[in-house]
Amino acid sequence: MAHENDSWKKQLNLPTKDERPQTEDVTATKGNEFEDYFLKRELLMGIFEAGFERPSPIQEESIPIALAGRDILARAKNGTGKTAAFVIPSLEKINLKKNKVQALLLVPTRELALQTAQVCKTLGKHMGVQVMVTTGGTTLKDDIMRLGETVHIIVGTPGRILDLAGKGVANFSECTTFVMDEADKLLSPEFTPIVEQLLTYFPKERQIMLYSATFPMIVKTFKDKHMVKPYEINLMDELTLRGVTQYYAFVEERQKVHCLNTLFSKLQINQSIIFCNSTNRVELLAKKITELGYSCFYSHAKMLQSHRNRVFHDFRNGVCRNLVCSDLLTRGIDIQAVNVVINFDFPKNAETYLHRIGRSGRFGHLGLAINLITYEDRFNLYKIEQELGTEIQAIPPVIDKRLYVAPSALDQPENEQQQQQKRLQYNPQQQQQQQQHQQQHQHQQQQHFHQQQQMAHHMYQQQQQMNHQQQQHFHQQQQFHQQQQQRPQPPPQLQQQQRR
Ligand SMILES: Nc1ncnc2c1ncn2[C@@H]1O[C@H](COP(=O)(O)OP(=O)(O)OP(=O)(O)O)[C@@H](O)[C@H]1O
Ligand SMILES: [Mg+2]
Repeated sequence: MAHENDSWKKQLNLPTKDERPQTEDVTATKGNEFEDYFLKRELLMGIFEAGFERPSPIQEESIPIALAGRDILARAKNGTGKTAAFVIPSLEKINLKKNKVQALLLVPTRELALQTAQVCKTLGKHMGVQVMVTTGGTTLKDDIMRLGETVHIIVGTPGRILDLAGKGVANFSECTTFVMDEADKLLSPEFTPIVEQLLTYFPKERQIMLYSATFPMIVKTFKDKHMVKPYEINLMDELTLRGVTQYYAFVEERQKVHCLNTLFSKLQINQSIIFCNSTNRVELLAKKITELGYSCFYSHAKMLQSHRNRVFHDFRNGVCRNLVCSDLLTRGIDIQAVNVVINFDFPKNAETYLHRIGRSGRFGHLGLAINLITYEDRFNLYKIEQELGTEIQAIPPVIDKRLYVAPSALDQPENEQQQQQKRLQYNPQQQQQQQQHQQQHQHQQQQHFHQQQQMAHHMYQQQQQMNHQQQQHFHQQQQFHQQQQQRPQPPPQLQQQQRR
């Protein structure tokens, strides 16, 4: 669509362009432009100044339908722009002259609330829209004061918002937009009763929009009960991100720290997030990493909120290279500089795995996910691979940096290789030789890689056989034990004699 009278665009304060390559997860669009949606000029300005050039696939699907007022249930991959897919229509529909809360954006964690509120503020920068963020772990009094002033959009976590609604401090009687991000998490048993109670404070004519990368069956009950003919979007014909390469390293529990140390020394980490399965392990690992001489922050739900916020803020600003955390930061967190995710502890289910590895490779960029797998994790690894229809390969001795490092940040030696290639450009014969040489080298590497994989597969099978044998042995032992117990007991005197 041609758009005339574009003089306002010249006044825009655009950020420097991100030149990193992107995958089809975000480039396979229909070719829409943001201007096709007849958005307010001030909103368009905010969108372009955020560095968004055109809508991503989920934004193309979601924005027009959301603007038309329909309920939506949308599923799209991690990091493909779901936030703006609901924030843009939410902003567009705000009547700025009305001093009322008109949109609620519900999210499961406090950090995600802060991040989402920031997206609202950035995109709505030129609109004069008032955005309030409210979560547990902060003083209720501050929220009450804030709600005394104009608020158009509230972003927050369920408990606190229900609290404010129940106390009559937040008035949702004219709030017609109800968004749930990470909707499947918000509809897990711990949150559902709160969400349902919260809905009673909303007008009958409201638009409910659900977004997530994962929609297990539990969502259906809510959909049938509360949503009106929702428009369903599913952009996940495959589940994992194209830009994220996944590997596993088979280790013993006590070798994990050593393995991590090796990874740190070999990988070109821009920023990394390292996941553990418990609060305690987060703290222990962070201590170990610091002792090894690497910089690291840590975060988990049992920390003071003010401390959590500082860690989140500073890590986002690149103050520290590595962040160790629990599943608190598994969902929605968007830090573009993260190119490596490490599952120090392997997660228990496929949803958690998907969201965790989706912290790298944001907006179609490249990333690496490495899983430390112990003997106990082996079935879980297989189960998650099956459920996600993805293959997690054994880690090769050398990981090609081009798989996860931005071209502009690739190491010097590779640049030297490139320069050497340039110098050879004017000598076709030599170039041909070089190409042949490279092809041979690649072939050798591939063979080597294949051998490694076979070895890993073989090892895995052996381990499984061993496990089977061990189980049989264990079973035999148990049988023996049972037989022993079933044997008639010797008379008491004999027992005493035996004891002596
Ligand atoms: N149209 C766009 N053009 C360029 N960048 C965009 C566009 N839309 C979103 N982004 C950027 O893409 C990144 C990921 O977006 P977002 O956090 O909304 O992903 P998501 O789909 O919500 O992922 P997750 O499932 O992990 O929550 C953000 O840094 C955002 O600024
Ligand atoms: Mg998100």
